[in-house]
Amino acid sequence: MTRRTLAVVSAGLGQPSSTRLLADQLAAATRDELARRGAEVEIRPVELREHAHDVVNHLLTGFPSAALRAALDAVAGADAVIAVTPIFNASYNGLFKSFFDVLDPGALVDRPVLIGATGGTARHSLALEHALRPMFAYLRAVVVPTAVFAAPEDWSGEGVDGALRGRIRRAGAELADQVDRRPAATGPADPFALTTTFTDLLAGRDPA
Ligand SMILES: Cc1cc2nc3c(=O)[nH]c(=O)nc-3n(C[C@H](O)[C@H](O)[C@H](O)COP(=O)(O)O)c2cc1C
Repeated sequence: MTRRTLAVVSAGLGQPSSTRLLADQLAAATRDELARRGAEVEIRPVELREHAHDVVNHLLTGFPSAALRAALDAVAGADAVIAVTPIFNASYNGLFKSFFDVLDPGALVDRPVLIGATGGTARHSLALEHALRPMFAYLRAVVVPTAVFAAPEDWSGEGVDGALRGRIRRAGAELADQVDRRPAATGPADPFALTTTFTDLLAGRDPA
């Protein structure tokens, strides 16, 4: 059985957070689809409000705290990333952007990513397409076609069992499909890892 890891980044500030709720449902849909394909899935939640101060300190000093390093490594080393933000002023919130600003460059290259957002009005659902998708395209991630937006009405009555549930299921299946096409992740690259043997180093041989 293949082992897969999903990093689930949630930038909601409320407690409880509708953003976290959407992130958890996207993760569950992806896990169920991967399990159906025979994979064992580990979900790694990354709740950004817990790292908010550390993210700002990292921006100012260039160094992450141990807890933030672990969160960044969880994202960099996962088979896929689910990234969900509340919409603030018609875009991702500052915490969401700042976290991806301090993520190691190249960490998301060719990484399957599912994007989602919550907001006070469905009129801002296209922020997923004009703000989140371009940012992840810049980071050279592979963003699945279905992006999931949840407005307040989606959580009540029909919505939660109807249209929203369907979008979540479709997005999860698309992410699982991308994961399934790739070999299992081996974790974040170690910047201090040896790229040659000691014998070659002592002999002055160039590994290239
Ligand atoms: C400063 C601020 C700006 C916001 N701007 C928008 C906005 O432009 N469009 C929108 O749909 N919702 C906006 N909202 C509402 C939040 O996106 C919404 O309440 C969100 O679902 C909260 O997520 P949470 O429950 O995870 O904290 C704003 C909220 C705040 C606090």
